Amino acid sequence: MDAKTISKLVRKVPDYPQPGVVFRDITPLLADADAFADVVEAMSTRIEAHHARALVALEARGFLFGAAIASRLQMPLHLARKPGKLPCETVRRSYALEYGEDGLELHADAFAGDTRCAIVDDVLATGGTAAAAAELISALGAKPVCCVVLLELESLGGRKRLGEVPVESLLIDEP
Ligand code: PRP
Ligand code: MG
Repeated sequence: MDAKTISKLVRKVPDYPQPGVVFRDITPLLADADAFADVVEAMSTRIEAHHARALVALEARGFLFGAAIASRLQMPLHLARKPGKLPCETVRRSYALEYGEDGLELHADAFAGDTRCAIVDDVLATGGTAAAAAELISALGAKPVCCVVLLELESLGGRKRLGEVPVESLLIDEP
């Protein structure tokens, strides 16, 4: 699947959820079964190339891709959730979003040892969300080996924010 095809299925919604932000709506992509399957396959290939052994999907939209990829690759799936959503002992990191502020948590017992983890999300913008996930993974003794996203908003600098964690994006766009 080429970037142009993906681009046609990610709808740009100006001034949502607040003025000046162009929201990326992935619902047309999700509603196209063939395209979604192709995207899952392409993201899976990138993850395999980094020899990841587990996935960490980021709430909420990252769950959609993470669950499908975990099933495709037969890989353990861990959920990085918004604060207060996971029932057992957690570790938490706060971060600034493109709009607003938020936090992510992982279950403290998610990983046994230094597992190679792929971070999975729909969009990489400022990188705050993914960087928080990378910190959580490291804090729990595992290793973030890549961050795989459908769409990267390159000029917002997310790739830089992730430091040594390589970013794999199927589509690069501007905010
Ligand atoms: C969106 C998007 C990414 C994040 C990217 O999530 O799904 O997770 O922002 O932004 P960043 O790179 O600047 O951190 P958001 O929390 O807005 O919504 P969601 O819960 O629907 O995924
Ligand atoms: Mg999100």
